[in-house]
Amino acid sequence: MSLKANIVVLTGAGISAESGLKTFRDNNGLWEQHRVEEVATPEAFAANPALVYRFYNARRAQLKQDDIKPNAAHLALAALEKACLGDFLLVTQNVDNLHQRAGSEQLIAMHGQLNQARCLKSHKTVVISGDLDSTTLCQCCQPPSAMRPDIVWFGEIPKQMNKIESALRRADLFIAIGTSGQVYPAAGFAQLAAHSGAKTVELNMEKSGLAFDAGHYGPASNVVPEYIRSLIGDGYRV
Ligand code: OAD
Repeated sequence: MSLKANIVVLTGAGISAESGLKTFRDNNGLWEQHRVEEVATPEAFAANPALVYRFYNARRAQLKQDDIKPNAAHLALAALEKACLGDFLLVTQNVDNLHQRAGSEQLIAMHGQLNQARCLKSHKTVVISGDLDSTTLCQCCQPPSAMRPDIVWFGEIPKQMNKIESALRRADLFIAIGTSGQVYPAAGFAQLAAHSGAKTVELNMEKSGLAFDAGHYGPASNVVPEYIRSLIGDGYRV
């Protein structure tokens, strides 16, 4: 079955939890043993660049482990995109590459990506697979400039907000998956979509506290394929 509707999906760390990647707020507020201010702010990078480079190098290396792979929820979203006959946009707050590896194409990584570095001078991004440090130089400037992880840190503006907002205004259906709804602007997407007439649905381990028209709660690898089967039928299996 296919689906004639404009759909926007927002995902957060919860969708990748069963792939073995830790969420942000389920570990006493620590992200992989670090307070967010130590590793995810421009001030942290200015104060201790070596720590910040090391932290994201470790997160990038983790993505290469054999056991870190897309789960049934990532795969179900790729199937939903294929079945959707309207406009489809998947917006992820995650910096991992699991949606890409599952086959999602209409995708905005609004908080950046571990597998990209950004030139500190020109702001151009490049794909990287190995480690980054202060000696890694860009190829876009003369003289070459240092680069930083292409991650949107606290206090910085997420990527492609105009495109995201225009998709939210056109959406018939907005689905939020595995996000606690604590970080704006993403936390405001459901309200924006609802104001424009979309039905809003939350798929999460527990209620986030934000307002949705409907919600289904449990592990993403169960709840997401089940919900997507309710939209597009039984024609696919993950
Ligand atoms: P959080 O860690 O705040 O929230 C994760 C959500 O996923 C919570 O609501 C959990 O209940 C839910 N969850 C956990 N395990 C799950 C599972 N197996 N199945 C389904 N849901 C599950 O992560 P985000 O909301 O993504 O920003 O955090 C938003 C942003 O804050 C991140 O992108 C990051 C962070 O600081 C930046 O780094 C800029």
